[in-house]
Amino acid sequence: MNFEVDLSGRTALVTGGGHGVGQATSAMLASVGAKVLVNDYYPDRADQVAECIRHDGDQAEPLPFDVTDFDAVHRAVEGRAVDILINNAGNAGTSDYTLNMFHESPRHEWDRFVGVNFFGPMNCVHACAPHMVEQSWGRIITVVSDAGRWGEPRLAVYGASKAGAAGFTRGIARELGRYTITANNVTLGSINTFGQGDDIPDTPEAQRAKKERYRPYIIRRIGQPDDPAAMITFLSSPLAAWITGQTFPVNGGYTVNQ
Ligand SMILES: NC(=O)c1ccc[n+]([C@@H]2O[C@H](COP(=O)([O-])OP(=O)(O)OC[C@H]3O[C@@H](n4cnc5c(N)ncnc54)[C@H](O)[C@@H]3O)[C@@H](O)[C@H]2O)c1
Repeated sequence: MNFEVDLSGRTALVTGGGHGVGQATSAMLASVGAKVLVNDYYPDRADQVAECIRHDGDQAEPLPFDVTDFDAVHRAVEGRAVDILINNAGNAGTSDYTLNMFHESPRHEWDRFVGVNFFGPMNCVHACAPHMVEQSWGRIITVVSDAGRWGEPRLAVYGASKAGAAGFTRGIARELGRYTITANNVTLGSINTFGQGDDIPDTPEAQRAKKERYRPYIIRRIGQPDDPAAMITFLSSPLAAWITGQTFPVNGGYTVNQ
């Protein structure tokens, strides 16, 4: 067997594909032959990413909807025969929430985290799994966060919603394995999705702050969107046929597991 990822003939849905990790994942899946349905809450983001992929000669279609809306998800996915589902959409792009200490947070803020990170993957799996079961092949990958494994101050509800999504994905792995469908989590450390990163002034203070910031990472940098995209693409491929129910850290060694 060659180490070659070929997803020709497969259709992949990437939620939150209009920016950051989802954008990089959409492009990478398309570059290995998948037809990518680029979802986003913001239609213009989905349009731009799909257009960019097509410009490179690969296949993509925008498919905007809100992953928190059960009916909208089902309407959008109907008849699309999604073989590979990437549950990537997360809060970061849509909201103007502030990161409060939990005991100071207003009740309505919790719903925004739980809605997208926890119910989003459920809505999408519910809509996409019937086709996967019918054809006895599928891939489900949920993007979660080290905040859900490790705990982070001011991210308690976010972390809880990601931990819940990871647990959901493990349950789905057990339910659907008999249909040759795998389901895994990819858990991330800090990823440079808004251009924050190495463009730091060349002053001793700024460089010291940068060093401090990167200290938790064994590989001394934050991640780039292509880092998780590569893991997600591998897990989507036939090469990962016997890998399911797992959580894979892409985090530069922020956490070290046995
Ligand atoms: N960037 C990080 O440091 C980091 C760290 C750990 C985990 N993550 C997770 O990785 C995933 C991607 O993060 P990112 O940094 O690329 O985010 P991002 O904000 O750059 O992009 C997320 C995209 O998802 C879309 N989106 C948000 N809510 C949506 C909804 N309800 N329906 C459809 N689309 C929606 C946004 O419009 C946006 O385009 C998220 O699940 C996030 O929680 C990110």
